[in-house]
Amino acid sequence: TAKAFIFDLDGVLTDTAEFHFIAWQATAHQLGLEFTREDNEGLKGVDRVGSLQLILDKGQLSVSEEKFEQLLVEKNQHYLELINDINPDNLFPGVLDCFAALKEQGIKIGLASASKNAAFVVDKLGIADLFDFIGDAASVANSKPAPDIFLSVAQGLGLSPEDCIGVEDAVAGVTAIKSAGMYAVGIGEKSVLTQADIVFPTTGEMDVQQLLS
Ligand code: BG6
Ligand code: MG
Repeated sequence: TAKAFIFDLDGVLTDTAEFHFIAWQATAHQLGLEFTREDNEGLKGVDRVGSLQLILDKGQLSVSEEKFEQLLVEKNQHYLELINDINPDNLFPGVLDCFAALKEQGIKIGLASASKNAAFVVDKLGIADLFDFIGDAASVANSKPAPDIFLSVAQGLGLSPEDCIGVEDAVAGVTAIKSAGMYAVGIGEKSVLTQADIVFPTTGEMDVQQLLS
């Protein structure tokens, strides 16, 4: 059975995926581009630079390096404004119970977020101390869908990938988990997260006992 659960953050533990969507939509609109929720699916789990590149590619736009940098800074400022008031109430229902159940059974808990704001967000959510290891998106070579962040967290926990279960809401994230050689739990829709080994509609509905047996 598994020895660790490695969680994604945005869209798995809290609804910050919605704030990333709002901020990227504002960026796209500023560029005169449409940006739907469907467009956003492809951005979930993708890092900041990669996300902006996807938006520009879709709109067949190119901007100068300076403009690119400026758009990244503005998007992040907007995102930080949107998450300014988040607090422990913003945790998805069931997350604390899930963590407690894992701890009770000696299962380690890791965090594998692509976000450079991850440490700040888990701090605001009041859950920073519950993790045995928090991955650092800034220090891995390749971002999701590459396996790097999940592998770095497994290593940080002192475990091999086969002993870890990854939990993700993003297509790129599920691909990262599978490339890392881990069992993949998808949070969301089965028709979207086709590579996941099992999918639950929400984090709160994830059946920890079933996954551990
Ligand atoms: C991921 C989100 O967790 O982090 C993406 O799913 C986001 O939407 C990415 O772009 C990078 O986040 P940040 O905070 O470093 O811009
Ligand atoms: Mg996510």
